Amino acid sequence: DTQNPANVFYCGSKLTRDKRAAALGQRGTFRGSTVWLTGLSGAGKSTIGFALEEYIVSKGLPAYCLDGDNIRCGLNKNLGFSDTDRAENIRRIAEVAKLFADAGLMCIVAFISPYKEQDRECARKLHENAQIPFIEVFVNTPLSVCEQRDTKGLYEKARQGLITNFTGIDAPYQEPLNPDIVIDTSVISIERALELIIEQLAQRKVLS
Ligand code: PPS
Repeated sequence: DTQNPANVFYCGSKLTRDKRAAALGQRGTFRGSTVWLTGLSGAGKSTIGFALEEYIVSKGLPAYCLDGDNIRCGLNKNLGFSDTDRAENIRRIAEVAKLFADAGLMCIVAFISPYKEQDRECARKLHENAQIPFIEVFVNTPLSVCEQRDTKGLYEKARQGLITNFTGIDAPYQEPLNPDIVIDTSVISIERALELIIEQLAQRKVLS
C-alpha cells in the first residue's frame, strides 16, 4: 500500500545510495539488501541468520540479523501469535528490514513468516518497489526433525495443548512456491547453507 494516511506527506532524503555507501566504507558500492529466512520453529533460521551476519561483518561490511524471538522481546512485544498479530509482526519487520537495507546494511530476517501472500510477498514487493535486492531463503527442515530437536520444548507443549496456534501443529505454514534458495538443515551443514546464500548474494552483486 503506497497511499499515505490523511494529512501525512512523505518526504524523501536527498542523499544518494552511493553517498550512504561511501560513508559506510562499502568499497565503492551500495550493498543494502535483505535476506529473508522463512521456515518452521526450530528449522535453523536463527542459526543461519546469525552465522551469516557474523560472516558478512567479518568481511568488514555492515549486517544486522533481525530475529523473531528477539524482536518479540522489544519492538513487537505487544504481539502474539493470532493471524492478525503475525501479519502485523511481519508487516513491521518488512518495513524495518527495508529501512535497514535502504540505510546500506545487509539485513537478515529470521522469522517464521508463515503466510505466503500477506507476509513474504508483501515484504518482497516492498523491497522491489524500493529497488532493494530481496533474497527469500526457505529453511525447509521437515517438521518431524524440528519437532525432534524441540530445542525450546515448545512442540511438546503444543502437542499437549498447552500452547495453541503453534505453527506446523495447529497453525498453518504455507511453503514458498518460488524461493531463491531452499535449505534443509537435516541434510546440509550450516557451512554449506552459508555458501549457498553467499553465492546468491554474489550473483546479485551485493557481495563480492
Ligand atoms: S511469526 O509466525 O513469523 O509471527 O513468528 P516469529 O515472530 O518468527 O516468532 C516465532 C518464535 O516464537 C516462539 N513461539 C511460537 N512460534 C510459533 N507458533 C507459536 N504459537 C509460538 N509461540 C511462541 C518460537 O520460539 C519461535 O521461534 P523460532 O526461532 O522460529 O523457533
